[in-house]
Amino acid sequence: MNHAAGKPVPLCLTASGPLMGDVTVPGDKSISHRSLMLGALAVGETRITGLLEGEDVLATAAAMRAMGAGIERLGDGSWRVHGVGVGGLLQPATALDMGNSGTSTRLLMGLVASHPITATFIGDASLSGRPMGRVITPLSLMGATIAATPGPGRQTLPLTLTGACPAIPLRYTLPVASAQVKSAVLLAGLNTPGETVVIEPIPTRDHSERMLAGFGAALSVVQTPEGRIITLRGEAELRPQTIVVPGDPSSAAFPMVAALIVPGSDITIRNVGINPTRAGLITVLQAMGGDIRLLNERIVGGEPVADLHVRHSALTGIEVPPEGAPSMIDEYPILFVAAAFAKGRTVMRGLEELRVKESDRIAVMAQGLTACGITATELEDGLIVEGCAGDPVPGGATIAARLDHRIAMSFAVLGLNAARPVVIDDARPIATSFPTFVAMMEQLGCRLLPTADH
Ligand code: S3P
Repeated sequence: MNHAAGKPVPLCLTASGPLMGDVTVPGDKSISHRSLMLGALAVGETRITGLLEGEDVLATAAAMRAMGAGIERLGDGSWRVHGVGVGGLLQPATALDMGNSGTSTRLLMGLVASHPITATFIGDASLSGRPMGRVITPLSLMGATIAATPGPGRQTLPLTLTGACPAIPLRYTLPVASAQVKSAVLLAGLNTPGETVVIEPIPTRDHSERMLAGFGAALSVVQTPEGRIITLRGEAELRPQTIVVPGDPSSAAFPMVAALIVPGSDITIRNVGINPTRAGLITVLQAMGGDIRLLNERIVGGEPVADLHVRHSALTGIEVPPEGAPSMIDEYPILFVAAAFAKGRTVMRGLEELRVKESDRIAVMAQGLTACGITATELEDGLIVEGCAGDPVPGGATIAARLDHRIAMSFAVLGLNAARPVVIDDARPIATSFPTFVAMMEQLGCRLLPTADH
């Protein structure tokens, strides 16, 4: 889990023939985290199928076990969670290692904040640089005591959090469009007397709200001129559930863009979540001319799902509407790659949040694209990319993935239509969200080689 240990695993990408075939992607990361957390707080047995077995989610599972929940993988690949009930979390005996996972850290801080326990959170070098003040502020207002490490202009891991019991109910307007902050406050509200209210002026992914309601929490969502007002009644009793996790649209984004940029490609990605708070990339790529069709739209486990039929397309640069950013926030690195193959200029703004993801995704992508011979202009809040109009990009660079899975996968896709090979210095971070990425791309006909074999 800690990529600082062990040797890097480079990956070399060479131009590929068309991608063909029919694949599935692993379970949604956001939904997987939440299903383990809420299952652990329900009284009784929750069953989960389609759980993402990536390192980030396994960090959540380990932490919930360390706080008393029973979590096991069954022979058929499904997962069984024995919950301890809201208020029943136990003090972990050792520090909770969150690896690379910001979602695990911020949501679990919320859970611990209203339990009478103390937990220390640690993580890898990437996570230890990320800002935690955004959750420390509301959770402190709810009564939690938090000692964090001062970082450059921010509070970071390692941090130690002592929960308040009873915690103080909070009415909180999100100062930043963040589903993690929203979810941290709502999860803290589960074991808090009275009503906890979160107001989000800009909508973010709503998996927590959907799943809390599914587990039987009293939760209402009202759309008002000041934003979405989410009200949760505390001291909730959660009922165990059977959860089917849909495929992750953020993972589907990689084969989707790969098929759009490699001539002759024609693929279908089955069972992909298309929740409107997550599906912004599909709309943007279609506006750029991408041939993406949604087939068999249906509801699975309370979430909208479809099969995506994607064919190679001549893309055109556009101005991407900044208000859509939260619905595709994790997809910008791969959108930058799609823009590199478009005809003309693509302008993407309103992306300050990208600077505090697993890496500074504006700076790292700008450097990598430039190294691959693409004109990319870094803005404080975004990126402007001049595309190659469908021709192969020059390539011929080694990309530093910086412990960021989505940087590694984005350049792996770019390398599929590059004139010269593209090397990713370390592909191990891909396992945080998409452990089957290389195998799935090979199934579609791509060649991804460890550099030693090249
Ligand atoms: C997530 C929310 C987003 C996203 C992350 C997963 C979640 O983070 O980038 O990958 O599961 O709630 P922010 O809340 O920081 O926007």
